[in-house]
Amino acid sequence: MGNRTGQCAFLVGTGAVLWGCAGGPAPIGPGPDPHSYSRPDQVSVRHLDLDLDVDFDARRLVGSATLHLERTDLEAPLRLDARRLDILSVTLEPGGRHADFRLGPEREWIGSPLVVELDPDTDSVRIDYATGPAAAALQWIEPGQTSGTRPFLLTQSQAILARSWIPLQDTPSVRMTYDATIRVPPGLLALMSAENPTEAAADGTHRFTMPQPVPSYLLALAVGDLEFRRLSDRTGVYALPSVIDRAAWEFADTPRMMDAAEELYGPYRWGRFDVLVLPPSFPYGGMENPRLTFVTPTLLAGDRSLVSTIAHELAHSWSGNLVTSADWNDFWLNEGFTVYFELRIMESLYGRDYSEMLASLGRQDLATEFEELRDRPQDTRLRVDLAGRNPEDGMTMVAYEKGYLLLRLLEETFGRTRWDAFLRDYFDRFAFEPMTSERFLDHLGRQMLAGPEGERLARGLRLDRWVHEPGLPDNAPTPASDAFDRVDGQLAAWRAGRSAGDLDTAGWTTQQWLHFVRNLPADARAEDLRALDQAFGFTATGNAEILQAWLLEAIRTGYEPATPALERFLTDVGRLKFLRPLYVELQRTPAGAGFAREIYRKARGRYHTLATDSLDPLFESAAAEP
Ligand code: BES
Ligand code: ZN
Repeated sequence: MGNRTGQCAFLVGTGAVLWGCAGGPAPIGPGPDPHSYSRPDQVSVRHLDLDLDVDFDARRLVGSATLHLERTDLEAPLRLDARRLDILSVTLEPGGRHADFRLGPEREWIGSPLVVELDPDTDSVRIDYATGPAAAALQWIEPGQTSGTRPFLLTQSQAILARSWIPLQDTPSVRMTYDATIRVPPGLLALMSAENPTEAAADGTHRFTMPQPVPSYLLALAVGDLEFRRLSDRTGVYALPSVIDRAAWEFADTPRMMDAAEELYGPYRWGRFDVLVLPPSFPYGGMENPRLTFVTPTLLAGDRSLVSTIAHELAHSWSGNLVTSADWNDFWLNEGFTVYFELRIMESLYGRDYSEMLASLGRQDLATEFEELRDRPQDTRLRVDLAGRNPEDGMTMVAYEKGYLLLRLLEETFGRTRWDAFLRDYFDRFAFEPMTSERFLDHLGRQMLAGPEGERLARGLRLDRWVHEPGLPDNAPTPASDAFDRVDGQLAAWRAGRSAGDLDTAGWTTQQWLHFVRNLPADARAEDLRALDQAFGFTATGNAEILQAWLLEAIRTGYEPATPALERFLTDVGRLKFLRPLYVELQRTPAGAGFAREIYRKARGRYHTLATDSLDPLFESAAAEP
């Protein structure tokens, strides 16, 4: 297949996209990972020494990255990923010779290949560079936007944004240890996915060591006016001074979660597990940066009801951070396993009723996702094909919730005792290694599905269908929650005419309220919401999950008293999972679209580029309409 423009050919092969120009330099396409130019089969980075100045005024990181190499093919150059980096010089060691390097043309999402020819004895390469002014991984937050008076910087490297702040082999199949020196303005604390200080260094210079090898997407940095509060010998919380007390209270169960996780699947291998509560514009609920999970402050509900996200990020310390999907097509191996493990931790701390509520909410999320992907059924496979696309587009709830259901099916098929033993061994055996669907299925087959009895079980499981075909197989388990059945009973009573104030809602949990709001009848009207609001005070809730679900209903029904709360929420919170559905819903009416445009214009500057990349198109397509 070829699409010719002049002398240059655009070739699409199996999983690889190549550019080549007759007479020009050799074409540079992705390597074995379709989202990375690197060729770790030839040269592979084993250790990174990072040395960076954090310049808040210029919004740049300036310094060097020294990459220590393992070379399999001594003829081959070093191929790195870079995205809008200013490469100042490349030095080969030993010897200190300035090397020639080639920075290829930039392509959307994946950036540019950076190719360095090596000397026969080169064992490390030092790259002096600066990040571009709008580096995709970096979020620079102005003083005043953080409730404090100091600026804040955070990074988000997953999936393929590490290359926008460090030149490296940006594929999860390569792992490296690292050391870093980070210089920041006095009084600010720098933290990384590494061994961390608990207080700002007087001279602003912070040094880090990460002794366990990690893939590039787990490289992380945060800088701000942060305080630390200890939770146990190996856990603690970092947050802005204005939220540190609330944060330490909210996450007080973290030590117990660690104990439960270790009890299930073996020792925690990363030393400490600390949680960093970020400013509200952080685009995700949580990010499993090793030793230092990043979370949104929207988890601070005041009643510990949203801590399953902590369990989730903790679970990644095994599924994802230890055993790592080899590329983003197998993202489900990270997230599906992690949701399963998260729910096991939650069950262990709070009981089966609680974890079944979470499983049921996940099942609803999956139904919504299938609906949204009805024109892209290929993306409802567990193993997806994201070559040539932005991986973010294919990282859907399918990986999380269909993946979860498959693991639950395996648990139910083998029984907990056998299944838990399998998983414990899996995390141990493949620790610090990349994993693929094929490798997992092969291992599962050999361990659990051998012999006549195994073959019988395999026929019932239909694993290939689960992993490689769209949709949800009919042997998927169905979560069942009595607590939600009671909510459904009250919803039915309300529909049949019982007034809101007379509903039996005593002792309901956050998850029950969420189920209630999400399942309000499709024909509910603004006056129905008014009555519910009077009885239950939804518009004034401090629980971000419930508030977001409620605001969605308010938009749907045109319930105007919620508008100020909606405006505040869209301005303060940058969590994409919350924002996107609200903006999409607003755009269904002309008045809503006008309101959305106005808010977005004001709030856009506060969102992470990950959020604006996803939201901008909503406004572009609306603009195209009359
Ligand atoms: N690793 C993910 C976040 C992520 C996914 C970042 C894909 C970039 C690309 C993290 O572990 C996660 O799943 N976060 C969820 C919360 C979780 C409880 C489902 C989120 O942010 O909503
Ligand atoms: Zn996750």
